Amino acid sequence: MPNPFYITTPIYYVNARPHLGHAYSTIAADVACRYNLMRDRETFFLTGTDEHGDKIVRAAKNENLSPRAYVDKISGLFKDLCPELRIRYNHFIRTTDPAHIAVVKHILQKIYDSGEIYFSEYEGLYCFGCERFYTERELVDGKCPDHKTKPEVIKESNYFFKISKYQDWLIDHINNNPDFIYPERYKNEVLSFLSEPLEDLCISRPKTRLKWGISLPFDDNYVTYVWFDALINYISAVGYPDGELFKKFWPYVNHIVAKDILKPHGIYWPIMLKAAGIPVYKRLNVHGYWNVDQSKMSKSLGNVIEPLQIKNKYGLDAFRFFIMRDMVFGLDSSFSEESMVQRINSDLANDLGNLFSRVLAMAHKYFSGEIPEVDPVLEQELQLGLESNAIKAIDKFESAMEKFEFHKALIAVWEFISRMNKYVDVTAPWELAKKKSSRKQLEAVIYNLLEGLRVISGLIYPVMPDTSSNMQKHLGMNPDESYYRLEILKKWGTMKSGIKLPKSVTLFPRVDLKKNELYSGENSSEKTLPDLKPEISMEEFNKVDLRIATVVHAEVIPRAKKLLKIEVDLGEKLTIVAGISEGYNPDDIIGKQVIVVANLKPAKIMGILSKGMLLAGFDDNICALGTVDKKIKPGTSLT
Ligand code: MSP
Repeated sequence: MPNPFYITTPIYYVNARPHLGHAYSTIAADVACRYNLMRDRETFFLTGTDEHGDKIVRAAKNENLSPRAYVDKISGLFKDLCPELRIRYNHFIRTTDPAHIAVVKHILQKIYDSGEIYFSEYEGLYCFGCERFYTERELVDGKCPDHKTKPEVIKESNYFFKISKYQDWLIDHINNNPDFIYPERYKNEVLSFLSEPLEDLCISRPKTRLKWGISLPFDDNYVTYVWFDALINYISAVGYPDGELFKKFWPYVNHIVAKDILKPHGIYWPIMLKAAGIPVYKRLNVHGYWNVDQSKMSKSLGNVIEPLQIKNKYGLDAFRFFIMRDMVFGLDSSFSEESMVQRINSDLANDLGNLFSRVLAMAHKYFSGEIPEVDPVLEQELQLGLESNAIKAIDKFESAMEKFEFHKALIAVWEFISRMNKYVDVTAPWELAKKKSSRKQLEAVIYNLLEGLRVISGLIYPVMPDTSSNMQKHLGMNPDESYYRLEILKKWGTMKSGIKLPKSVTLFPRVDLKKNELYSGENSSEKTLPDLKPEISMEEFNKVDLRIATVVHAEVIPRAKKLLKIEVDLGEKLTIVAGISEGYNPDDIIGKQVIVVANLKPAKIMGILSKGMLLAGFDDNICALGTVDKKIKPGTSLT
């Protein structure tokens, strides 16, 4: 029996909806897992949500929900996304699960009892966004490199984990296990980090500051630091310490994360495991960022790509294919709809789709849709190296998949697809079909082509499971996972002649970008509105702070023809001078909910300091205020 395979994704914070970055990590894990099924390995796939901490409490507050109601809601979004993306996890963990909480407490107690946790006062620079202390050295221009905000100086008594004690052990472990952190650039990054002395890790937060967390088993006035809680999910989910799943799968665990969380996974986690007497993980697989317009995709920059929107528009398999083909595992990639459409049209519609429909159309035309009888000698003679090309592609595919080089695995499959297309051109079945005397040759050629399609249908299974089973259905195979097994894919000549093939379908329709674009990019400037101002990016737009406000007071400004002095309430009061008096009397607008630009630089107008702007539209003789169609809390942001 081959070794089992255990794959994990990061557990995602529930402070924001899932976006392309989360979808990528989870789809990559799904692809790796399906590939291991092809190798007959027993697999376990873990994903889930990280639900404690400051960030979550703040996000819940913003939505006027209790932390519990809020985490249930957002965790549900992450969970529901999985079937939509054909993610076949074995377990979806939540850090609020009682079983997880029990394991976190167990480990904390174990490490505390062994004397590796101590209590001390600490003053440091704390980033609330990251929920961690920063050293001066880690800051860029005095700011958090991720949130671009100045960390605050915080002084408090806390519990610390003696990670410095394990520094030399970790360096040795990384050097002795060259695949421990992969790809190499990230191993080097961790080693470079470890070349400076490690500071002990603060692992608690006083409950006076944060209650939404797991209480320390040895001091009820404190909750544990989110990372200490979150990392343990990888073992609690499989039933540490005694569960059968833990015993079977833990020795074979592969973690997938992006580079943002390299440090907790590359440094804290192995040290936590070591200190708790648990064998360390097998391999940490680190990928880069999906960027949009050169910036990392994030909610705060307002440039998030929604996986469901893309999937609904272009189809799930096209989406899965694009992100796996475009990103080199370990490096950053830039998402653009334009390059996605190019790939769909060239790799999927042209190369694969055309090959599939051409071959099936010929099988229908020349053999009434039946897999032809084939003379084994002629079949061999007319292979022209197709079988050995298939084996070569499978070998390359395998070695790339083992290293999570998904793009290379797909390149190997597409090399074979292009070889198949050439085979059609060289053997020219339509010429063979013209003469009765070459009927046997025609049978052999079509049989070989169908065999090649069978191999392709299996190789695309991890990345494009739906297309794989669609192809297999049209190749006369019952949808059954054993067809994806590499052992069967390697056996040329397993298709049974005489089997009737259903009529062919178009696997991937071509896409016209101009008609279709979801997100604006360089090619989207076919604007028809007159006097349209120059295009702005989402990032620029997001600088404008639009809020709902209630008008609480309005008065005419003496001597001003068009101006009203207005006071609005948006949580706090704001004075605005607005040019709307030709359309509204003061009494008309008191009590109305209006849309306000709340972060406009203040300006003096008719001696009054105006601190914002009301949105209104003007045509020849009408002035209409921008309002909202339901009553809503003053101060709510418009997005
Ligand atoms: N909760 C922690 C992880 C705890 S794991 C024990 C966390 N959550 S997160 O919601 O911020 O997710 C971070 C992960 O989401 C990244 O490591 C990556 O897997 C994925 N991505 C988020 N944004 C991304 C991109 N822009 N590009 C690629 N992946 C990114 O950190």
